[in-house]
Amino acid sequence: MLKGKHILLGVTGSIAAYKAAVLCRLLRNAGAEVQVVMTATAKQFITPLTMATLSKNPIIVEFFNPENGEWNSHISLGEWADCYVIAPATANTIAKMATGVADNLLLTTYLSARCKTIVAPAMDCDMFAHITTQTNLTTLRNHGVVIADSPAGELASGLTGKGRMAEPEQILDLIAKTLNSEKKKSLQGKHFVVTAGATIEAIDPVRYITNHSTGKMGYAIAKSLAERGAEVTLVTGRTALATPAGVKRVDVLSAADMYRAATEAFATADGAIMCAAVADYTPAKVAEHKIKKSDDDMAIELVRTKDIAAALGAVKGDRLLVGFALESDEGVKSAQSKLKRKNLDFIVLNSLTDKGAGFGVDTNKVTFIDNNGSQSLPLMSKSDVAESIVHKIEQHYAHPTQR
Ligand code: C5P
Repeated sequence: MLKGKHILLGVTGSIAAYKAAVLCRLLRNAGAEVQVVMTATAKQFITPLTMATLSKNPIIVEFFNPENGEWNSHISLGEWADCYVIAPATANTIAKMATGVADNLLLTTYLSARCKTIVAPAMDCDMFAHITTQTNLTTLRNHGVVIADSPAGELASGLTGKGRMAEPEQILDLIAKTLNSEKKKSLQGKHFVVTAGATIEAIDPVRYITNHSTGKMGYAIAKSLAERGAEVTLVTGRTALATPAGVKRVDVLSAADMYRAATEAFATADGAIMCAAVADYTPAKVAEHKIKKSDDDMAIELVRTKDIAAALGAVKGDRLLVGFALESDEGVKSAQSKLKRKNLDFIVLNSLTDKGAGFGVDTNKVTFIDNNGSQSLPLMSKSDVAESIVHKIEQHYAHPTQR
């Protein structure tokens, strides 16, 4: 979720400092690099050793190392960070941030950091409710700081009310959301069609032929494209998934419906990502009434559906077309011939034999294949695979000559 991101974690002197240790571990597990800055008082609540061990980096408290005079530059810390998270943030630190006081490294770093800052307040309920604290929080909000909502609950003082620090899991989500909304709008002005999910081919009014696709991969791609500013038309078979923010969703049932919707949307699109598991065959006739069973066996005559990817490939010109392939054997060879046959720019190969890849699961292990060769990626979450695919799409536009 936060692979390769640089998170600067500021810890101030509050009982909730123990939750900073949990947040630090969650950040590392999400793939982030973490550097911890503490105030002198924070050290009385949680040891530098704990934070250094969890963050896998020495923690920084002073402007310079008293042992050797080495300077801890708040400027380079601020430049290094993709996000500065101050959790827990005491009323004292919040007040200083709101007024520009810079009497410790945590605060000078705040003033010089160019990245987004997130503050998770932690204090007693009366301090939190005090007009001064609330005014300071409003000032910080107006300055573009994101405030992690403080939930009501039991406080260290024994009182109950608002003021507790948000839970580390909530802060982690907020960091991911904040960094996502900061994503470069690198695909602004582009329109993509994404097909996703399984089609449903009716046999009669009750029965149908379908497959195990859940649509997760296609929805993750639609989300990543939209986050980069692209206009996205998601042509989707039936799924249980929520429509990603900013995405136009067109619901379809059969392969023929998907063909119509996808070709129509592609007419005004810059590219298409064909992620749907489209039925290759459909019943030759749909029975008008429910077919009655008898003691005999029965056969259903199936006819070929149209290949949507190939149809778009035939008219695409220099537009981008990405396909998927799910193979149980001879993956690369077969994907290469599909690449040519359907006129795709690149193909994402999932192997049915790889553990953790394919239908239903949240992870995927894929290989990108294009005319220049192949690139195998490790097992990743589907949202990370989507990010990698969208990154390849960004590169396609950044280096058009390498197509
Ligand atoms: O030929 P195969 O089904 O293996 O090709 C898979 C790729 O083609 C996927 O990108 C899939 O979405 C697309 N496809 C399609 N229409 C079909 C069959 C496959 O768009 N009728």
